[in-house]
Amino acid sequence: MISGANRGIGAAIASELVRAGWRLSLGVRNPTSLREPPGGKDTFLHRFDAHDEACEAAWSEATGARFGRIDAVIANAGVMIAKSVVEAGDADVETVLQVNVKSPMRLIRAAWPWLVECGAGRVVLIASLSGKRVKSAASGLYAVSKFAALGLAHAVRQAGWDAGVRATAVCPGFVATEMAASLTSRRAQDMTQPADIGRIVAFLLDLPSSASVAEIPVNSTLEDIA
Ligand SMILES: NC(=O)c1ccc[n+]([C@@H]2O[C@H](COP(=O)([O-])OP(=O)(O)OC[C@H]3O[C@@H](n4cnc5c(N)ncnc54)[C@H](OP(=O)(O)O)[C@@H]3O)[C@@H](O)[C@H]2O)c1
Repeated sequence: MISGANRGIGAAIASELVRAGWRLSLGVRNPTSLREPPGGKDTFLHRFDAHDEACEAAWSEATGARFGRIDAVIANAGVMIAKSVVEAGDADVETVLQVNVKSPMRLIRAAWPWLVECGAGRVVLIASLSGKRVKSAASGLYAVSKFAALGLAHAVRQAGWDAGVRATAVCPGFVATEMAASLTSRRAQDMTQPADIGRIVAFLLDLPSSASVAEIPVNSTLEDIA
C-alpha cells in the first residue's frame, strides 16, 4: 500500500516497486485521475484522503480483500505549510499533524493484522531531514510534524519487532517534486530525484528481518548532522 502515489515521490516509489515485482494498492485522493497507474490492471486503486478518518480502514480492508494479504505499507502522502511555529494557527497545526502523523498512524493500525500475519511485514514512513533538524523558522511547523513521523517509525519498530514487522523512516532533504519547487529556487537536477527514493524503498523492502534499518537520511547537499 502506498499513500499519495499519484505524483511526486509516491508515484516514483510505485514505479520502482512494480519493477521489483510488487503488486500495488495505491491510495489517492482522486482514483479516477490516475488513468495509467504503474502495474496496469494488476494495480489496485482506492480513494484515500488523510482528512477522512475512516478511509485508512476502508482502504486496508479493500486491499486485503483484493490481494488476500498486505506485506508492506508506505506512508508517503504529506503536506508542507511553510510557517514558523509562531505564525502557524491551530488549523495549520491540525492539517500537518493530520496528514503527516495521524493518518499514517491510522493506516499502519488498519493494516497491522495483515502485516503481522505475513510474518515479515514492512512499514516505510517518508519522513524528512526536517524530522532530524530544524533548518529554518519557516520549516518549523513542518519539522514538528516530521519529528513526530520519525518518532512514529521508531514506535512502530518497537511494536512490531517480535512479530517480524520492520519499520524505517526515510529522511530526504529536497527532492525534485512540486513540493520542493514551491520552497526553493534550487535547480531540480541538483536535488535528490524521486526515482532515487523509489530505489531506496525497494531496497528496504528487499532486506531480511535480520538486517533492519531504522532511519535513512538522504542528502543532496552536505549538512552538519545528517
Ligand atoms: N519533496 C521534498 O523535498 C521532500 C523532502 C522530504 C520529505 N518529503 C516528503 O515526501 C512525501 C511526498 O512528498 P512529495 O515531494 O512527493 O510532495 P508532492 O509532490 O506535493 O505530493 C504530495 C502527495 O501527497 C498527497 N496528499 C497531500 N495531502 C493529502 C491528503 N490530505 N490526503 C491524501 N493525499 C494527500 C498528494 O495528493 P494530491 O495529488 O491529491 O494533492 C500527493 O500525492 C511527503 O510526506 C513529504 O513531506 C518531501
